[in-house]
Amino acid sequence: MAVEALTLVEAGGYSNLVLPGLLRTSGLDQRDRALVTDLVYGTLRQQGRADHLLARASHRPLPELDPPVRAALRVGTYQLLSGVAPHAAVGATVGALAGWSSPASVRRAAPYANAVLRRVAELGPDWPWPAGDDPGAVAVRTSHPRWIVELLRRDLGDDAEAVLASANEPPAVTLRPNPLRTTPEALAAELAGSGRSTRSDGLTEAGRVRASGDGVQVEAGRLVPSALLVRGVGDLARLPAVAEGRATPQDQASQAVAAAIGARPGERILDLAAAPGGKATAMAEGMGDEGLVVAADLRPRRAARVRDAAVRLGLRSVQVIAADGLDLPLRGPDARTAPEAGGRAAPIGELGARPADEAAGRFDRVLLDAPCSGLGVLRRRPEARWRLDPSDIERVAALQRELLAAAVARVQPGGLVAYCVCTLTREETLDIDTWAAGAFPALTAVTGPGAPWRPHGRGALLLPTAAGTDGMFLLLLRAPAPDQLPEPVR
Ligand SMILES: C[S@@+](CC[C@H](N)C(=O)[O-])C[C@H]1O[C@@H](n2cnc3c(N)ncnc32)[C@H](O)[C@@H]1O
Repeated sequence: MAVEALTLVEAGGYSNLVLPGLLRTSGLDQRDRALVTDLVYGTLRQQGRADHLLARASHRPLPELDPPVRAALRVGTYQLLSGVAPHAAVGATVGALAGWSSPASVRRAAPYANAVLRRVAELGPDWPWPAGDDPGAVAVRTSHPRWIVELLRRDLGDDAEAVLASANEPPAVTLRPNPLRTTPEALAAELAGSGRSTRSDGLTEAGRVRASGDGVQVEAGRLVPSALLVRGVGDLARLPAVAEGRATPQDQASQAVAAAIGARPGERILDLAAAPGGKATAMAEGMGDEGLVVAADLRPRRAARVRDAAVRLGLRSVQVIAADGLDLPLRGPDARTAPEAGGRAAPIGELGARPADEAAGRFDRVLLDAPCSGLGVLRRRPEARWRLDPSDIERVAALQRELLAAAVARVQPGGLVAYCVCTLTREETLDIDTWAAGAFPALTAVTGPGAPWRPHGRGALLLPTAAGTDGMFLLLLRAPAPDQLPEPVR
């Protein structure tokens, strides 16, 4: 199944969609599901290292092989790198090819794969990684394309190699308790089960939640103490706490961003690029579900995920629209009291019924969590590093500038604009800040979160190595209050 999943990912699928789809119909138990998951994500992360070894062991260049054969060689090499005994790693991989249904050429390649993997096994476990500081050597050692190594070295200096290495670790599984339905302590106790083996410290002296039981471990986050880091809970979507809206899977960095925006009950919030809705729903929870959170996303199917999340969490203040953030179809300033806007998560597009008038949809706080190159979340999207192209960086930066201008146009006097991206490149962080300073001189930067975030231009940068979270950049800009606005020219 791992070979099949990797073949589908190489053909353009996303591992986080392909794999759950295959697992759902697999009939595998939890242990085997975890094994396949590790094989797929681990192989994608270690692909650069595996290809380095395979280039030495395979007479035929990897690109010339059938995709399932290439995938199988990578899975087998990943297992060898992980310390699986050679006979087991080679046997399982070759067996997968020998039983492949079609094309027949894949079955015929099984003896070749056997020979190649045996040669790989002979290269280690003292694997012949290139030494030295050369970007090509670092690229192999950290399993990244060379251009990403060069880019992060340019932008992060000495931190680059550790950040690159951290992208090869599985991300922590983190939950955000829904304060409208539970507390961190109650959720921790629930997750750890109520059986005899449960030990729940509730709030310990240090003020940190800890619980364990039935193979489940729960710990409070270092960055966001109300966040729960969990181990051994299996499929998150099937977890009753998630399915029943008491918790949402969300990394601490995103939780910290939502908290830093500081939305208050009764306010009007706009999230300009909201799907799948992690930050929009976090803000609505933080507001006690009082007020309005308009959550827009360009892609209707992704926007539907925001609506589903709001419904799951029982949030009535979240209004979802499938629309281009550059051209939002919002109704007038009465949106807070409009019947459609006051209650349930609206059908997608409902707020788009009327075109905007001038005062339409000015908001107390506007979040732009912009589409980005995602170099801060490579742990989470293991194939992304192999798909990205250097030209993507400037392309998304251009879109980020446009969307930020649209966000600024939507904030009301005295309101807050938050720009964030889960990436680390200069183009999408410092350069956006510099551009914004020139384009919107009236907006003043607000101090962002403190350590382990570090000052970055007028914003703040969180390296993935700082607290074991996603990497993130956040820039908070305050619009001038009404009495500070320049007099209109007569
Ligand atoms: C980084 S994700 C947002 C994550 C989200 N804020 C959360 O916390 O769950 C960026 C989103 O921007 C959306 N997007 C891209 N271009 C857009 C546009 N022009 N207008 C609105 N949304 C856009 C993408 O579909 C994607 O869902």
